[in-house]
Amino acid sequence: MALTLTGLRQRVYIGGVINNTPDNLVQWIVSPQRFSPRTAMPTTGISEAEARHLAAYLNEQ
Ligand code: HEM
Repeated sequence: MALTLTGLRQRVYIGGVINNTPDNLVQWIVSPQRFSPRTAMPTTGISEAEARHLAAYLNEQ
C-alpha cells in the first residue's frame, strides 16, 4: 500500500499516533521520531519555518 498524503487533513491521526492538528503536523515533519520512536520516517532536517509551509501546502491537498 502506498503512503499518500492526499486528503491528509481529513485524517484523525498523523502517523497513527498523534492528533492531526496544524501544529502537530509541523512537529511531525520536523521530527517524527519524537512522537513515534519506531517510525520508518527519518528526521528530515527540515526547519520549523519550512515545515510550516509544507504543512500549509499539505492541508490544501
Ligand atoms: C518533505 C518531506 C516529508 C514530509 C512533508 C513528510 C510527511 C509525512 C506525514 C504527514 C506523514 C504522516 C502520514 C499519515 O499519518 O498518514 C508521514 C509518514 C511517513 N513518512 Fe514522511 N514526510 C517526509 C519525508 C519522508 C522521508 C524522507 C521518508 C523516508 C525516506 C518518509 C517516510 C515516511 C514513512 C515511512 C511514514 C509512515 C510513518 C508511520 O506511520 O510510522 N517521509 N510523512
